[in-house]
Amino acid sequence: MSVQPKIKRITVPEIRARKGGEPVVCLTSYHAHTARFIDPYVDVILVGDSLGMVMYGMETTLGVTIDMMIAHGTAVMRGTDRALVVVDMPFGSYEESPEVAFRNAVRIIKETGCTAVKLEGGKRLAETIRYLNERGIPVMAHIGLTPQSIQTMGGFKTQGRVEEEWAAIEEDAAAIAGAGAFAVVLEGMAEPLAARITHQISIPTIGIGASAECDGQILVLEDMLGLSPKAPKFVKEFATLGAQIAGAAEAYAREVRARTFPAVENTYGMKKVK
Ligand code: KIV
Repeated sequence: MSVQPKIKRITVPEIRARKGGEPVVCLTSYHAHTARFIDPYVDVILVGDSLGMVMYGMETTLGVTIDMMIAHGTAVMRGTDRALVVVDMPFGSYEESPEVAFRNAVRIIKETGCTAVKLEGGKRLAETIRYLNERGIPVMAHIGLTPQSIQTMGGFKTQGRVEEEWAAIEEDAAAIAGAGAFAVVLEGMAEPLAARITHQISIPTIGIGASAECDGQILVLEDMLGLSPKAPKFVKEFATLGAQIAGAAEAYAREVRARTFPAVENTYGMKKVK
């Protein structure tokens, strides 16, 4: 007997088939409530390890744990029923060996119910990507500026500014596509290089600070909503929620101090004590 799942999400083959076609729309989310708002409009929701910096105030993503990713991944799954949800594998959870990566990816997928995982790195991770993919775990890759390598890169620096850097990054892209990744994030990458990679490989490239030459785009939700104190320069703010939240808090504080809140009609019908 077969049982049809009630929820029909966008699938990995559907995303892969968008190569060179309709752009893939992706955003990050870390919670059920924000995920619920964006679910009807995006193809992919990434539960990014950027949550360490955005939500927990960490300086880098290096301190993010599997348990944190699972807690937030589970919340995002609860808030959505349409987008394909990808959960980041945090630093230290996949680099050691394909077997370790498999064990941790299985835990993330079983405990959150997400469809796929993302990991950072090129050629050196091709064997791991192949190992996961062959065992039923779809992988989104991530090359260019890879925040988990911040210490070896020496900072958040745009990659491929000089032509001499291109060949190595192009080799990374070819290796992960060949290993079976279904899409790849190109982060912080000079436009000509992002364009070359997009033309060279057979899987969708998802840009973040990598120009409009990619097959899709991703932004950190809090950055594009105006909630981040210091968003990267390339980010367009589509809303100014930070200012709105501050304004709402200020208005509330004013009313509480003036004893005009709560108004009588908001107090469950209780009469004011004279
Ligand atoms: O962690 C994250 O949010 C990411 C995106 C910036 C692509 O990896």
